[in-house]
Amino acid sequence: MFDVNKIREDFPILNRKVNGKPLVYLDNAATSQTPQQVIDVIVDYYQNYNANIHRGVHALSQEATDKYEEARIKIQKHFNAARAHEIIFTSGTTHSINIVANGFSSLIKNGDEVLVSAMEHHSNIVPWQMLCERTGGILKVIPMNREGELLMDEYDRLLSDKTKLVFCNHISNALGTINPIEEIIEKAHQVGAAVLIDGAQAAPHIVADMQALDVDFYTISAHKVCGPTGAGMLFGKEEWLNKLPPYQGGGEMIAEVTFEKTTYADLPHKFEAGTPNICGGIAFGAALDYMNSIGFDEIAKYEHELLEYASQKLLEIDKLKIYGTAKNKTSVISFNIDGAHPYDIGSILDKLGIAVRTGHHCAQPIMDFFKIPGTVRASFCFYNTKEEVDVLVEGIKRAKNMLL
Ligand code: ALA
Repeated sequence: MFDVNKIREDFPILNRKVNGKPLVYLDNAATSQTPQQVIDVIVDYYQNYNANIHRGVHALSQEATDKYEEARIKIQKHFNAARAHEIIFTSGTTHSINIVANGFSSLIKNGDEVLVSAMEHHSNIVPWQMLCERTGGILKVIPMNREGELLMDEYDRLLSDKTKLVFCNHISNALGTINPIEEIIEKAHQVGAAVLIDGAQAAPHIVADMQALDVDFYTISAHKVCGPTGAGMLFGKEEWLNKLPPYQGGGEMIAEVTFEKTTYADLPHKFEAGTPNICGGIAFGAALDYMNSIGFDEIAKYEHELLEYASQKLLEIDKLKIYGTAKNKTSVISFNIDGAHPYDIGSILDKLGIAVRTGHHCAQPIMDFFKIPGTVRASFCFYNTKEEVDVLVEGIKRAKNMLL
């Protein structure tokens, strides 16, 4: 049985006060909070078996290596990847995307086209622009409508035998839209293009199945799923990862080094140069264990209830407009109050102990589309409550009275 009060006991930070008020943490799309079960794993690592991996014959190094590789297998199973070596540990989604964008430098030719959705985070725009600058590739944009849904007819029109790559987020961080990635992947494959899906915002809500999706690359950050910052995953199909060159040179990623020539290690190590975030990788696995112990179906059902409740309550506030009203969306609400700057609303909410994100959410093209400087974004997690939604609503009303 899903019991939000019991779940909240796992998160020590939720008991703290901010500006003398109980914390109401509604910035989960930026980063989720960390349960005691994951904090314990981090402490255990540093207290008991901190060592470098894949290098030492000594006991601590072997223990750390075993736990790190166990975490890789947990992640593989969670995302149903066919092979453990298709899971590359990274520092997060941005790092994961840059590995792929860099790798495609030798595969994209002058005049090749790459398609990006209109609702991407900067991390899924800028690396591809840099790729196009290096290669002469052409970046084209799949447009969206005012609800924040991709225009799939336009996508059909953009696809051609010139299309080499398509990249799209699974869920928009600024609007909450759940994109039809199954259709996006299938249609891209029909023209022979590879697909990268940025799963950073989806991972806390949906379990993506790599084999069922038949996706070429999928990226996530551990800190969105109750894990630590500085850890993440690049999933890549074996055939693609074998084709791409390494992103960084260094230790760990080599088979043999001489001054004349270096040969590279097999997957996954080819993409894991240097000492990685060992504790972060292990805690990433523990975070997925934690979320699976609650159950993603239960999480999705509960968060949907919160979304419906919050949307209805917010829309009762005069002059409040929600951006991102897709039929298929997750528990993210971006909004503005007509006549008030989002930053001012966010600052007043902070004084009341309510944490939201304000600004362009690293998605300036979306703000340009709506012709606004930014939004206030409340993003809900499975440990939030309807009572917290009520506190948010009262806070917004208070901010509105002060600002208008
Ligand atoms: N990408 C994160 C967000 O949307 C940081 O807030």
